[in-house]
Amino acid sequence: MFDMAKHPFPKDFLWGASTAAHQVEGHTLNQWSVWEKQMADELACSADKRFGWLPDYAKFKSLATDPKNYISGAAIEHYERYEADFDLAKQLHLNAFRFSIEWSRVEPQPGEWDEQAITHYRRYIAALKKRHLEPIPTLWHWTMPVWFTDRGGFQKRRNLVFFERFVAKMIEEFGSEFRYVLILNEPNVYAAFSYLQGNWPPQHHSLLETVAVFMNLKRAHCRAYKLIKELQPAIQVGCAAQLSYIQLSKPGLLPSIYAWQYAYLWNWWFLNRTRYCLDFIGLNYYFTDYFSNSWRPINPQTPINDMGWYLNPGGLYPLLGEVYKRYHKPLIITENGVPDRGDKVRKWWLEESLAAMQKALQDGLPLFGYLYWSLLDNFEWDSGWWPKFGLIEVNRQTMERTIRPSGRWFGRQVAIYRRRQ
Ligand code: BGC
Repeated sequence: MFDMAKHPFPKDFLWGASTAAHQVEGHTLNQWSVWEKQMADELACSADKRFGWLPDYAKFKSLATDPKNYISGAAIEHYERYEADFDLAKQLHLNAFRFSIEWSRVEPQPGEWDEQAITHYRRYIAALKKRHLEPIPTLWHWTMPVWFTDRGGFQKRRNLVFFERFVAKMIEEFGSEFRYVLILNEPNVYAAFSYLQGNWPPQHHSLLETVAVFMNLKRAHCRAYKLIKELQPAIQVGCAAQLSYIQLSKPGLLPSIYAWQYAYLWNWWFLNRTRYCLDFIGLNYYFTDYFSNSWRPINPQTPINDMGWYLNPGGLYPLLGEVYKRYHKPLIITENGVPDRGDKVRKWWLEESLAAMQKALQDGLPLFGYLYWSLLDNFEWDSGWWPKFGLIEVNRQTMERTIRPSGRWFGRQVAIYRRRQ
């Protein structure tokens, strides 16, 4: 039996939570906010089809079938309330915080920098540092200025100069404040959902475009990496990669081929090509996927979370081992969490995840942090407001924040671990 008490987390381990600008700030004007307004009715109409199979659908059906659910709008007013939110992170004994800088705010028109927005983020970072919360910025968490996507966004290689200019500006403005920077969040998810499945803006269904976007994101990452290293060589640069723990549900040649191709395309394609432009690897871990006789994963029906995702928190341990074996880089969990409106499984998920990390550390893996997704309930993209990922519940009528029991439990654990360090 693994004895958790005997395996303390390393000194300086980063304990934090993650957020992304569009999901929490409110009143963003980017390609997503434009799309939401166009699509809200359609998303509400398709709710029965998309979510009707979920066991708890009756509990959130009225929200899921309401077009307002699909509008980020004021979000959770984090843009104004960030100081109070950071105080809550402190109450949970966290020492790190992941956020994204909203490109559309700082560069609303090509080449025109919004000084107010820059001042906002300067204050934001200062407020984190004042509270001894390590700022871990993401430079691209899927949202982009409309002028950039109108030009074709990451479909066009020639547009990469715009992203580079934004990255350079952010590093010139804030780089001296950062020890870590994440350039891209989950390029695989964006390329697949926006260009292959066509569920997300710009809703294209093209294999060629998907490949082009994925390639360009890889190029964007490498160019941004070089730029950051020139401007601020001390910054450790990484990415937040969505990685799945891939399993066979039965032995056999066909399941092995399907699992292999999924692992290659989903997990390793981007990391293989950016490995020399990564000082560390951030893992976003939510999924264990089982393969049999189909290219799509077919997962067990239980346990599942509110969004119907199969839950295997322990998969984090072997996945960490696999990533380390492949790339030999320092590792951080940049996202890991569960949508759980009743707060029924979150504590269990956290317990299992903590145990998985301790086992990885015991194996000698250079794991240096854990950032839970998310600190606060937030806007879950094309699912809208009904999924509740937060350690902290947010009442969107009053904007009141309440720490969930699982959040309190996690905070107490972190306090214990940090005392032991
Ligand atoms: C994304 C987050 C998202 C979370 C839960 C990750 O893929 O980076 O923005 O909210 O998963 O779906």
